[in-house]
Amino acid sequence: MLQLPKVIGHRGAAAYAPENTLSSFREAHRRGATWVEIDVKLTQDGVPIVMHDPSLKRTMGIDRLVAEMRRDELPAAVPSFEEAIACFGELGLGCNVEIKPCEGREAETARATVATLGRCWPARSPPPLLSSFKDASLVAAREAAPGFARALLIDEIRDDWRSRAEKVGAAGVNTSGKRLTAPRAVEIRRAGYALSVYTINEGDVARALFGMGVHCIITDAPDVILAAIT
Ligand code: G3P
Ligand code: MG
Repeated sequence: MLQLPKVIGHRGAAAYAPENTLSSFREAHRRGATWVEIDVKLTQDGVPIVMHDPSLKRTMGIDRLVAEMRRDELPAAVPSFEEAIACFGELGLGCNVEIKPCEGREAETARATVATLGRCWPARSPPPLLSSFKDASLVAAREAAPGFARALLIDEIRDDWRSRAEKVGAAGVNTSGKRLTAPRAVEIRRAGYALSVYTINEGDVARALFGMGVHCIITDAPDVILAAIT
């Protein structure tokens, strides 16, 4: 089975530092995380960068779309995927790379993501895990670089989860910890998939989810979850 840590820092350590930035990754590491989760999308000129929203408005105060900006127009605080990987290498962090394409760029974003991983991911670091809400991105990633492990990313588990997981060749299922039911957790584990949940920031909730059989908690506050389970 896919090996994952018990705790992954969401967008770095989003509770403590600006999400998806190098300072957030450093903060996650300082607070005990061994892996972080990030969101990768493409600039207008096809450079993979680390950013959650389609627009820069919420995080950077700039009312423009990433898909309409070149890399050299973005604020320096927005890391390229390559810069993020260099930071992970320096800190020894693993990464759940969420492929978060702008609309219509599902396959292109996946291909650029795995090409960058193939070129830059440090051999001594734990192998990354790809995930995406877009099955088309996972299929494209599988075609381009089948060796990178993939997780189906679904907000709410429905009856078709298994056929979707098989179609994208997933080794894991990442889902909402607030919506996961105990029967679904059992079903996913019994089928041999690694089960991760997001975004859980409360220690008691994390303990209950581990009790249901969850393998990994994705959290904005890795120190809080680590303290609750040790
Ligand atoms: O990958 C887990 C989680 O990050 C998915 O939701 O919207 O925070 O990217 P979101
Ligand atoms: Mg994400």
